[in-house]
Amino acid sequence: MPLTTTGELITGAAAHSAVAAFNVITLEHVEAVVAGAESAAAPVVLQVSENAVRFHDGDLIPLARAASAAAERAAVPVALHLDHIQSDDLLRRAVDAGFGSVMYDASRLPYLDNLAATHAAVEWAHGQGLWIEAELGQVGGKNGAAPLDAHAPGARTDPDEARAFVADSGVDALAVAIGSSHAMTTRTAALDHALLERLAGALDVPLVLHGSSGVPDDELRTAVAGGIAKVNIGTALNIALTGAIRDFLTDRPEVVDPRKYLTAGRAAMAETVARLIGVLRTEAVLPPG
Ligand code: G3H
Ligand code: ZN
Repeated sequence: MPLTTTGELITGAAAHSAVAAFNVITLEHVEAVVAGAESAAAPVVLQVSENAVRFHDGDLIPLARAASAAAERAAVPVALHLDHIQSDDLLRRAVDAGFGSVMYDASRLPYLDNLAATHAAVEWAHGQGLWIEAELGQVGGKNGAAPLDAHAPGARTDPDEARAFVADSGVDALAVAIGSSHAMTTRTAALDHALLERLAGALDVPLVLHGSSGVPDDELRTAVAGGIAKVNIGTALNIALTGAIRDFLTDRPEVVDPRKYLTAGRAAMAETVARLIGVLRTEAVLPPG
């Protein structure tokens, strides 16, 4: 199918359903996300983070081209999203690399600096036709830092501040801090649903949940029912990939052909993608055929 955009997927999603957005690092991640979405018959967002670009020596293009090609061959709509961008230089490479949306992350900065940087990014992005998400109330556990405790003060978005931030920056969507934390390897996060209700009531842009790998299924469902429109998932894929490879090589330590253990790893990721999409959406299933 032709590439779609994150904005179109969110607009087209049924009420009280969310678009799943998965972070990809390798070609196998890309293939697994597309395969998982196809088996769930649901649209999906492929996300490439600034950290993933750094892993590829700062070169965005090879992974982006692979993701574009996989998206165009997919049987379901796929959007490409550049995630957690702090570098203005990388932001400016988004369009040529085929991305229809970006998440500009200045949430580490004090409020006014975050607002100024985000506003400038929005001006540029909208001039290029890009849909742009930003973050207010830092979701912890980024860039290798220990995940924040769900009740840490830095892990909350204030509704009044969020309303002003959205109005003054012009962002198309807002990542909100409601109790999740990045890079959790246990699914134990407890979300602040009362805060989400206040945020959903205060804001008229789609709300995005980050750090969703650490959020249990029921909490995810409740968050989607409460107004989360995009759910970002990364670590869950890496848990699946690494676990499958570890098990494979433990059973068969003589194997050196990466195709053998990567096949197991890719299949485990695809299964995780399909399962989590099933948790997130009830009405976003595409009609058969
Ligand atoms: O932006 C990416 C997500 O927030 C992924 O977080 O790796 O904890 O699932 P996660
Ligand atoms: Zn994130």
